[in-house]
Amino acid sequence: MRDTIADYDRFGGPYGGHRRGDPGIARLIAERLGEARTVLNVGAGTGSYEPADRHVVAIEPSATMRRQRPDHLAPALIGTADAIPYDDGAFDAAMAILTVHHWPDLGRGLREMRRVAGGPVIILSFDPDAPTEFWLGDYVPEMVDVEKARYPAMANLTEGLGGPCEIVPVPVRIDCPDKFQVALYGRPEEFLKRDVRRAQSAWRFLPEGVEDRFVDRLGQDLASGAWDDRYGHFRTQATIRCQLRLAVSLPSP
Ligand SMILES: C[S@@+](CC[C@H](N)C(=O)[O-])C[C@H]1O[C@@H](n2cnc3c(N)ncnc32)[C@H](O)[C@@H]1O
Repeated sequence: MRDTIADYDRFGGPYGGHRRGDPGIARLIAERLGEARTVLNVGAGTGSYEPADRHVVAIEPSATMRRQRPDHLAPALIGTADAIPYDDGAFDAAMAILTVHHWPDLGRGLREMRRVAGGPVIILSFDPDAPTEFWLGDYVPEMVDVEKARYPAMANLTEGLGGPCEIVPVPVRIDCPDKFQVALYGRPEEFLKRDVRRAQSAWRFLPEGVEDRFVDRLGQDLASGAWDDRYGHFRTQATIRCQLRLAVSLPSP
């Protein structure tokens, strides 16, 4: 299995510049954290979506990512999801944002989150089996396969967490400042920027040459107007129906 921590150490430099928390998604997360006063953020990265009005402890294995945490956030502990160094029920809630697809032992990581959280466990991820309006797969069919292999099915999250779990679709807005791939559905020119792609881990999983082929073809289609002829309506579409989901797990009654 690929060492994604080493990957983030090596390639995660541009992350903080292009992956800033989206206020709408942050609100959804805050709502689901409910009354939680203490929150553990696992795979915390640069700290996007960490609520400012609660006590947050962040765990992040990559030094490159820890270094990019902004000054107003506390430093992150060095650690991984599969061995969380806290007692059972030590936090009111736990969150893991766009990170579970990197964990080498998903089941163990989920059990650990459930163990240390007395209340909700909140996971933001992509449902690989859900439909999407996004056009990227028309250009890079290989990406569809890569993402399907990386992201866990929602049933795996639900089973791994145990207890009641709600899966909530998350709309992505046209101006989402967290530039994960689908967030660029109406801003295709962003894909031509190398640093924007570097801040999206999926490109590193493609066969050699595929990324270059995509950049060439998209660049040509944007210059000729072919992209706009087919997908131009996305430039003004306020939100996109996509695979982003919030899994909200509560402790077993
Ligand atoms: C896409 S980033 C998301 C970071 C942050 N949660 C955010 O929303 O901006 C994925 C993060 O997962 C971290 N990660 C990789 N393997 C991990 C593991 N086994 N346990 C916890 N985090 C891990 C990476 O180092 C990286 O910071």
